[in-house]
Amino acid sequence: MCLYAVAQEDGELTPIHYAHYLTRAMGQVGLIILEATAVTPDGRITKNDLGLWNDAQTTKLRDLVTDLHQLGTKVGVQLNHAGRKAVDAVTPVAPSEQRYSPDYRQPHALTIAEIHGIVADFRSAAKRATAAGVDVIDIHGAHGYLIDQFLSPVVNQRHDPYGGSLRDRYRLLHEIVTAIREEFSGSLWTRLSLTDYQTSTQQNSLSEWQRVAQWLEADGVDLLDASTGGLFPLKPNFPVHDGYQTKFATKLKHAVDIPVSTVGLLDNPGLCEYVLQNHQADLILEGRALLRNPNWVATADLALHDHHLKRDTFNQSYYRGMNER
Ligand SMILES: Cc1cc2nc3c(=O)[nH]c(=O)nc-3n(C[C@H](O)[C@H](O)[C@H](O)COP(=O)(O)O)c2cc1C
Repeated sequence: MCLYAVAQEDGELTPIHYAHYLTRAMGQVGLIILEATAVTPDGRITKNDLGLWNDAQTTKLRDLVTDLHQLGTKVGVQLNHAGRKAVDAVTPVAPSEQRYSPDYRQPHALTIAEIHGIVADFRSAAKRATAAGVDVIDIHGAHGYLIDQFLSPVVNQRHDPYGGSLRDRYRLLHEIVTAIREEFSGSLWTRLSLTDYQTSTQQNSLSEWQRVAQWLEADGVDLLDASTGGLFPLKPNFPVHDGYQTKFATKLKHAVDIPVSTVGLLDNPGLCEYVLQNHQADLILEGRALLRNPNWVATADLALHDHHLKRDTFNQSYYRGMNER
């Protein structure tokens, strides 16, 4: 969850990030995936984002990962390039020269040499993530950022090996996955947006996303992280309800053997259990629930396990705070 808290604009972790993530680890979150972290300065969504392109950023990440591991939490980093949605970029880039909305600048259409440079940026960030000791890299292929822009039949209007057919639109992601897989032996995830809230002819169909999922599995991805939206300034075209994105995770599960995670309005512990027990998804990710309540895991534990917190795993003072009046 982007905190947009890098006031110095240097892409380095700040005390706010340490406080935020360590508090969630104290709250017994099993795996924390750090917010979208840019592989290059112009790949940041805003200039207040985290980055992973230099040594100072890598050292601070290693320190945070070490502390989080000491608290028993696994750590992931989400690697991103924002493409045409990089609001503060010197030169926003994209597959083609279409802007995201009239409020955004027109992006520069990447040359093939520049695309190779971005793949190299992802490779280099993966090396840095390895040096920092992270357990998971989550490639941000969703929410209308650069990889999602390439995958789209609407935003990607290229007539070269990186555009045209679905397989060619997938080429950038394929090269990024391959490069990261060569540098990183931990768990490699990819987040995808499985609908753009457009009519069916203006976006990849679910069967096309299932093919992308199968290619990702073949390329060595360990988990698919199913999300939606972000390519256009459009909201869901159906009433948003608890677990509204889980049906997309279930669709992917039908196509692959690797686990698929779900996210989106899943802060009701009973509903989470229902989704898991009915094999609608293999893993649940919590976003806003953990912004609201760093002790959400304890809340879920209380709700699901006979209203009895596991005293031995939870910090003793937090335990008393949750249980005593
Ligand atoms: C403040 C905020 C920051 C977010 N930052 C990210 C991000 O860095 N990477 C990402 O993939 N999704 C990001 N999202 C989307 C969430 O990860 C999540 O998919 C979405 O909020 C729905 O899940 P939830 O109902 O559990 O919050 C962000 C959402 C919010 C509200």
